[in-house]
Amino acid sequence: DHTHADTLRTPIVAVLGHVDHGKTSLLDTIRGSAVSEGEAGAITQHIGATDIPLDTISGMAGELIDPSDFDLPGLLFIDTPGHHSFSTLRARGGALADIAVLVVDVNDGFQPQTEEAIDILRRTGTPFVVAANKADTTPGWNPQDGEPIQKSMEAQSERAKSMLDENLYEIIGQLSDAGFSADLYWRVQDFQKNIGVVPLSALTGEGVPDLLTVLMGLSQRFMKEEMAIDVTGPGEGTVLEVKDERGFGATVDTVVYDGVIRNGDTIVVGGQNEPIVTEIRALLRPRPLAEIRTEKEFEKVGEIGAAAGVKIAAPDLDQAMAGAPVRVVRDRTADQVIEEVKAELAEIEVETADNGVVVKADTLGSLEAMANALREAEVPILRAEVGDIAPRDIAVAETANQDEHKAILGFNVDLLKNAESDLENADVKLFKNEVIYQLVEDYERYVEEKQR
Ligand code: GTP
Ligand code: MG
Repeated sequence: DHTHADTLRTPIVAVLGHVDHGKTSLLDTIRGSAVSEGEAGAITQHIGATDIPLDTISGMAGELIDPSDFDLPGLLFIDTPGHHSFSTLRARGGALADIAVLVVDVNDGFQPQTEEAIDILRRTGTPFVVAANKADTTPGWNPQDGEPIQKSMEAQSERAKSMLDENLYEIIGQLSDAGFSADLYWRVQDFQKNIGVVPLSALTGEGVPDLLTVLMGLSQRFMKEEMAIDVTGPGEGTVLEVKDERGFGATVDTVVYDGVIRNGDTIVVGGQNEPIVTEIRALLRPRPLAEIRTEKEFEKVGEIGAAAGVKIAAPDLDQAMAGAPVRVVRDRTADQVIEEVKAELAEIEVETADNGVVVKADTLGSLEAMANALREAEVPILRAEVGDIAPRDIAVAETANQDEHKAILGFNVDLLKNAESDLENADVKLFKNEVIYQLVEDYERYVEEKQR
């Protein structure tokens, strides 16, 4: 059924994984192969995202894909750099990503941030595939640049093949320990029941055609209904990051997942204290094919439709929160939309108690994930907020009436300079970490030692 093709939006694919396991390299390779396919112009760089059209994907996947099998326009990949928490990737109470690629280094296997990614994928019910990356580091590997993985396997020595297999089965075992039945993707019959593992190398590109094929198949089969959107409706998106931009002040890097956002639109954005109502001054996109993170020059666009990443410049955005909703008002009243945004934020609001610890996190999503982890560990929360650790947080933590609760747990946040001396002088213990469960474990160990 191709009649709805123009109203099917691009599926959003989040690329997740432990630090250095190769998320960015994988995206670079997908972009790079697209360039060598002579399709460079077809790729659009967005803020925090890369859009690869179907034709380009089928060009890269070669014999593995028949483009006439698909009516989705392509795939929009979102990189989750370094320690930046991908739990930011939320939308309407669920996951912003329609599908995910969990990148795992075949030699390292599961690492703390892999476990964390798995937890979030499980909780949000996001379908995913595992990219077992760095297959080329297998001793004695005979690289087959850009080839499908099974073809590449045929070119390997028995010894290299069995070493890779061993690592792959280790990962399949770790997935099983995490509660997911998984297998090498070509053995998976039903991707709804089993997780496909795709061995590949971001460095040589072998196995990348397979990954693209599996992703297209997954999106097409399971998500077509969710991809049907009103392309002209008021835009809805999620703040990925709040950033100061020279000449524009505070801006929000946003992924639009529904409708269209136009320059001049009035928008409502979730803020630290209350929803921000403001008018868009500029919609900005990186110039074509420039590397996003080093790109300073933006192109102003008149409008942008889902799914896409865009930088929004507007007054009063300095209080906006990563992970918060962005909604275009259009033909409704601002009050209506404020209520919508409030309702969405209320879903995330963390349950607090009269006594407990202070929690700070970098984004709404990570705050929510922290709260879940602490609830499981039966640690009560006195106050939970997005943002760096400020003098006020120390003052609040000091009011806790049990010693073990005079603590601040900071996830992906910094201690502000003006709070340093307060912390020194206060009877408050600060815990900081970039892995949620380690943060919780550190705190639990501290409490145990205190009680000894
Ligand atoms: P963060 O964004 O910091 O979390 O890391 P990342 O997951 O984006 O990893 P990145 O792509 O930056 O790769 C980390 C290192 O691994 C780099 O030195 C890459 O060159 C290397 N690397 C990535 N993929 C491969 C691969 O398939 N083979 C080999 N040999 N090296 C790889
Ligand atoms: Mg990276």
